[in-house]
Amino acid sequence: MENKKNYSVAIDGPSGAGKSTLARSAARELGILYVDTGAIYRTAALFVRSRGADPDSEAEAAAILPDLKISIGYGADGLQRMYLDGEDVSDAIRLPEVSMLASRVSSLPAVRAFLLEMQRSLAKEQSVIMDGRDIGTVVLPGADVKIFLTASAEERARRRFLELEKRGTPKDYDELLREIEERDYNDSHRAAAPLRQPEDGVTLDTTGLDFRQSLERLLEIIRGRMAL
Ligand code: DC
Repeated sequence: MENKKNYSVAIDGPSGAGKSTLARSAARELGILYVDTGAIYRTAALFVRSRGADPDSEAEAAAILPDLKISIGYGADGLQRMYLDGEDVSDAIRLPEVSMLASRVSSLPAVRAFLLEMQRSLAKEQSVIMDGRDIGTVVLPGADVKIFLTASAEERARRRFLELEKRGTPKDYDELLREIEERDYNDSHRAAAPLRQPEDGVTLDTTGLDFRQSLERLLEIIRGRMAL
């Protein structure tokens, strides 16, 4: 059914809860745009590194941000691509060391302020599902649907463990769990836009659910709210 008005779905939650995969599939199912805001922070982190700036320094970030040229594109496959100074960095931003760097850089208020408008403008012209840490609380406080997608740290570490094993790059489970807990702590204890559950949102805990079940639940929440 076609909806007259553009609508927005905000999905927030901790690292490794499956936000990106689920949001991408839900967007495809609903025929709307998926915006991965973590990828934007990851691109900013690459930029900070390329300038040799301290990823924990607000002053250093503020000094170089005016030169940050980020753009988002969508490939023929509909997948989001990230460009830094015109160069496609979509693969580079997925390197494990960039994850932790992005977590640090995203704590800097100057970086968050710089990236805010870019994220908001993507939701102005079209219906979107946007995922991140502060979408329902800060970026799109007026979102039509707000979902807090989570799973226990152990379940997230287990999923990551299986994923890496399947990819042929296994990693120790305890180390993965420790990394997840460290990023959770960073993302929810920073002063600037910490990860927290929107008061007016719905929590979807996928612990014990497989991908299909999680996607069905997610679509049910969105369709229920939007009367789609
Ligand atoms: O979702 P991700 O792992 O790709 O995100 C990378 C980092 O960026 C993560 O540590 C938290 C941060 N982030 C954020 O602070 N705000 C967002 N809206 C999205 C991501």
